[in-house]
Amino acid sequence: MTGKEPFDNFPISSKADAVKPFIVMDVMEQAQDMERRGEHIIHLEVGEPDFDTPAPVVEAAIRALRDGRTHYTHSMGLLELRYAIAEHYLDKYGVDISPDQIIISNGTSPALGMIFNTLVSPGDEVIMTDPHYACYPNFVLFADGVPRFVPVSEQLGFQYDADAVAEAVNPRTRAILCNSPSNPGGTVIPSPTLEKLAGLGVPLVSDEIYHGLDYNGNAHSALEFTDNAFVINGFSKLYAMTGWRVGYLIAPKRYIRTMQKLHQNFSISANAFVQWAAISALRECAEHTAKMASIYNERRVAMLSALDRMGLKPPVEPTGAFYVFVNFRHVDGDSLRLALDILEKARVACTPGIDFGANGEGFIRFCYANSLDNIEEGMRRLRAYLEQRGALHGARDL
Ligand SMILES: Cc1ncc(COP(=O)(O)O)c(C=O)c1O
Repeated sequence: MTGKEPFDNFPISSKADAVKPFIVMDVMEQAQDMERRGEHIIHLEVGEPDFDTPAPVVEAAIRALRDGRTHYTHSMGLLELRYAIAEHYLDKYGVDISPDQIIISNGTSPALGMIFNTLVSPGDEVIMTDPHYACYPNFVLFADGVPRFVPVSEQLGFQYDADAVAEAVNPRTRAILCNSPSNPGGTVIPSPTLEKLAGLGVPLVSDEIYHGLDYNGNAHSALEFTDNAFVINGFSKLYAMTGWRVGYLIAPKRYIRTMQKLHQNFSISANAFVQWAAISALRECAEHTAKMASIYNERRVAMLSALDRMGLKPPVEPTGAFYVFVNFRHVDGDSLRLALDILEKARVACTPGIDFGANGEGFIRFCYANSLDNIEEGMRRLRAYLEQRGALHGARDL
């Protein structure tokens, strides 16, 4: 042993090495260091439900384990779960899909990988908003594709202007990626926009992971507007099941065999007992999800009202997911520096907008998947911080 790492100079894949880190992790790690030193931090950075998974889902998983549901399943997933998903899309959106258009995956994340690796050959383009969910470009780049960013503004709630998308479409375009309710914007794509995007002759990849967390009840599935859509959805957010790792994709039949081959090779199948539990989520948890959604909504209203009193309410009200994306360009154009300063001085952890693309720079994302008390305390601390910086323009009295 020389004390040196073995193969010190042996190359690492340039493609893997080029994957960007999630900057919010730096904020989170710094927050954890401060907590270890005894500081009290309000966490408004992580995009994860604070609720426990509903009891019927936990019971179904335990039952499945006791019943020996511990083997590989069909590579596309349990037929029973695929039927339950088809039924859910029929009940909720009136769209008729068949179980053999569905593949169950370990969360929606691998589903994104399957879709882009199926649609994209080297150099092909995928249109996405800027700002966008941080991982999207990495999936496209890893499939040797090119993310084609369409800047979106806070005046349109960070959703597409359909004309700008039409201009970006070219012969290399393989998909238009949309996300509604969105991360980081927390907004729902208006139906006329979705309808126009569906008419551009390019497949839509619609990330519907925050469906059910749309507090005005106006989120629509892309499948209501076109059959030429790839939907991804899952159980992480609405059912508070992030750690269970279960999601799915719905695709036009002609692509399924290709994606099934990818899934067989790279995952074999999703976890068996978790798939049984997911059936219970769809069939037995309507009351639980309604309760959680109504609590998120109360928190949303509280956070927006506090931001409004600081003159920081976004021009388009975020009505979905659990995020508010706030413009701080008048305070500091460098969102990472600002997030770290807010953490250090106000002891509030939040996500720098730069994590979500160049056009998110100068914004900060706050997540309201936290208790009302913590949200109110977090907003009080933020106000005091801004006051101290002399940056409380347009604020009203508490
Ligand atoms: C927009 C969006 N899509 C997909 C995901 C990934 O979800 P999953 O836990 O199903 O992999 C997230 C997680 O934060 C997300 O915000």
